[in-house]
Amino acid sequence: MGKVYVFDHPLIQHKLTYIRDVKTGTKDFRELVDEVATLMAFEITRDLPLEEVEVETPVTVAKSNVLGGKKLAIIPILRAGLGMVDGILKLIPAAKVGHVGLYRDPETLKPIEYYAKLPSDVEERDFIVVDPMLATGGSAIEAINSLKKRGAKNIKFMCLIAAPEGVEEFKLAHPDVDIFIAALDEKLNEKGYIVPGLGDAGDRMFGTK
Ligand code: URA
Repeated sequence: MGKVYVFDHPLIQHKLTYIRDVKTGTKDFRELVDEVATLMAFEITRDLPLEEVEVETPVTVAKSNVLGGKKLAIIPILRAGLGMVDGILKLIPAAKVGHVGLYRDPETLKPIEYYAKLPSDVEERDFIVVDPMLATGGSAIEAINSLKKRGAKNIKFMCLIAAPEGVEEFKLAHPDVDIFIAALDEKLNEKGYIVPGLGDAGDRMFGTK
């Protein structure tokens, strides 16, 4: 079964408080999400494999480490996931960025893919799928279905806030995918918002309503 990691680093928790705050405006919200994404990227990359190389310092030749293993791809789920991409790229600038867009079918309420563009070398990459909110889990589950259909194998999912209901659905659908979150909140309300949450992540990030 996939593991759930909650990042309780003080800086992440501090910034998340201001992200939640209804008084935080669009500019600060966006900057804070960007900063938290960077901090989370630092934690999520803890297990990346290293390989030893030789490097010539001004003094001597040293054995030292560089990243080995597969290259990474970041996949934001449109649109709120976009707000987490630059923060991750600050630490992993060589990562490719793919996009998955989903809409909710008004009748079945199921997420339907309307856009998917992934790096061409899917088999050669490990994936970090990002979306600030894991609410019912529907979008994240479908986005990862879409990646797997195209050959993606090693996938992590990263979000700011998750609801327990979404985490359970996600773990059932993708038991091979670990989830990395900044906070596990209380529940979903009747409108599908995470409680206490932060409201609509996309609207707060892009200033729409
Ligand atoms: N999506 C959001 O942006 N916010 C929620 O609370 C749930 C889903």
